[in-house]
Amino acid sequence: MDLAKQLRRRPGDRGGQRILVAGKGGVGKTTLAAALCLLGAERGHRVLAVDQDAQQNLAFSLGYPKERAAALRSIIQDLDFIEERTGARPGQGWGGLMNLNPDVSDVAERFGVRISDGLYLLVMGGVAQASTGCLCPENALLGALVRFLNSREDDLIVMDAQAGLEPFGRTVAEGFGTCLVVSEPTFNSLQVAGRVAQLSRQMGMRRVDLVLNKCEEGDICKARESGWEGYDDVHVLPWDPSVRENEPDVSRLLGTNGPYIEGVRRLTVSLAI
Ligand SMILES: Nc1ncnc2c1ncn2[C@@H]1O[C@H](COP(=O)(O)OP(=O)(O)O)[C@@H](O)[C@H]1O
Ligand SMILES: [Mg+2]
Repeated sequence: MDLAKQLRRRPGDRGGQRILVAGKGGVGKTTLAAALCLLGAERGHRVLAVDQDAQQNLAFSLGYPKERAAALRSIIQDLDFIEERTGARPGQGWGGLMNLNPDVSDVAERFGVRISDGLYLLVMGGVAQASTGCLCPENALLGALVRFLNSREDDLIVMDAQAGLEPFGRTVAEGFGTCLVVSEPTFNSLQVAGRVAQLSRQMGMRRVDLVLNKCEEGDICKARESGWEGYDDVHVLPWDPSVRENEPDVSRLLGTNGPYIEGVRRLTVSLAI
């Protein structure tokens, strides 16, 4: 696979969109990340889906065969590889001087999976809050990867992030322009979303949008009372039983024109994907 060459960002090239999907657990991040990737690929973009969640279930949602998805190796699990590139071993603190700009040119070849035409997946793997408190090697590698990848204006990188953004270093966030904070239309979920949005801003993301997911009648008014200030835009996605019926596979929704996938289509228009 010549993926690295294909996705390499040329000097001076702004590169395409890089979108981070964040929010509380269970709100629909993986589902949304998968839907954005599938719709992006359908539009003819080259798409790289990055799974950064410890659950590692983005592959299933993209419709990758279950047995093969279960066998995917995450980059984070390869401690030797991370140490070789960054000079520091995850979980062991700083061995010496860490390379903040590790060579990641072959990461896509080594760990990337082709899901379908123009759609690739990298399972980064979740970085559990390390007992040392330092996720430096993992973040250095992930940050370098996001900066390295993505060449053309119309490429798309979507990262399914861990529930909170806490384990993120600035080095990772810098690679992403847009954060989609997913929330259910409930008080608690919106509270978490607000904190995630604040973190995203502190990390320097240019656009932070709220995606209110699983909305039923009356939910929007109630959610507004709970507060959703401070976002650049707010998008509403409906509760859709066909999402649940087909879960975890989002690819099966694509041809259906159901309410959820149509909602995500509107979102892609707003994001100019
Ligand atoms: N709009 C929706 N309507 C109905 N079910 C949904 C919707 N969005 C997500 N779900 C379901 O909610 C559950 C959690 O979604 P998931 O994407 O795994 O959340 P997260 O990645 O945030 O933990 C899944 O079973 C998924 O199918
Ligand atoms: Mg998830």
